[in-house]
Amino acid sequence: MIDRRSFLTAGAAVSAAGILAACAKKNPAKSTGPDSSGSKQITLGFSQVGSESGWRAANTQSVKEAAKAAGINLKFSDAQQKQENQISAIRSYIAQKVDVISFSPVVVTGWDTVLKEAKAAGIPVILTDRSVETSDPSLYVTLVGSDFEIEGERAAHMLEKVLAGHKGPVKIAQLEGTTGAAPAIERAKGFGKIMHASHPEWTIIASQTGDFTRAGGKQVMAAFLQAHSDIDVLFSHNDDMAIGAIQSIQAAGKTPGTDIKIVSVDGVHDGFVAMSKGQINAIVECNPLLGPQLMDAVKTVHAGKGSTLPRWIKTKEGDYTADQAAAALPSRKY
Ligand code: AHR
Repeated sequence: MIDRRSFLTAGAAVSAAGILAACAKKNPAKSTGPDSSGSKQITLGFSQVGSESGWRAANTQSVKEAAKAAGINLKFSDAQQKQENQISAIRSYIAQKVDVISFSPVVVTGWDTVLKEAKAAGIPVILTDRSVETSDPSLYVTLVGSDFEIEGERAAHMLEKVLAGHKGPVKIAQLEGTTGAAPAIERAKGFGKIMHASHPEWTIIASQTGDFTRAGGKQVMAAFLQAHSDIDVLFSHNDDMAIGAIQSIQAAGKTPGTDIKIVSVDGVHDGFVAMSKGQINAIVECNPLLGPQLMDAVKTVHAGKGSTLPRWIKTKEGDYTADQAAAALPSRKY
């Protein structure tokens, strides 16, 4: 599998300018009509992953609000976590001759054919939130989103803080995100990297996908607890699965955050509520409010200046422990 960071770096060498100039030529004026400033309105076709989590709900809202604020005509579709739905949506946007296509790919592989169709139609593509693996980096202009591998590393470092003073072996259960999705692959990779480099006493004794949903987290954690009576730590790839898992931990007669330490990713409102109750010990933030950065990129690309964009537009994020949760909760924006 191609490493995401090396792939993106390799892609940077490809001239996005050439691609975008070609796109602008083939696709000169497909805008719908003048916006409030008198310029032609840009039409953006956006294919969302689904509505699997609180993070996703906040991301969808951010994209819709930012499009409105930017005067961009947004065509939005929800793929219900199915790649075939995303491919159909992208084909429909190509048929409708939108100006720019953006999508958050449910999984990393299997996009080349449809991306080549978009390129042949002269429609530039911007990835948001999640990356793809492709043999042809010219098939998309830029990615607006987080560094998930670094998030995994940050989660391991937060666990070091949570376990400060602990001696002896640490048995870890991992709730993975959607199989084949960039955040699931890379968070596991980043966490594993720190664990293998610095913590011979840590062992992952169970690891399975909960598909980024509460129901998935609850069900898989119940199975973990049945198979293993000695779990010390849960590393959950998102807050929703951690919240589902908390229910199973309580049902098993254990206290989440005490008997089983929990480190999670996202930082959604409900995750902070659980953390303020001491049920989650630490959260690595993954910022879903990508809409404004995405709309800026759409405007730049549509203006034929995509070559000025970095290959990867990263998001700013923080880390939080349970003792900071109550103070941080009122100012959380999602
Ligand atoms: O791609 C981002 C991930 O997708 C979030 O961490 C998770 O909650 C969502 O479903």
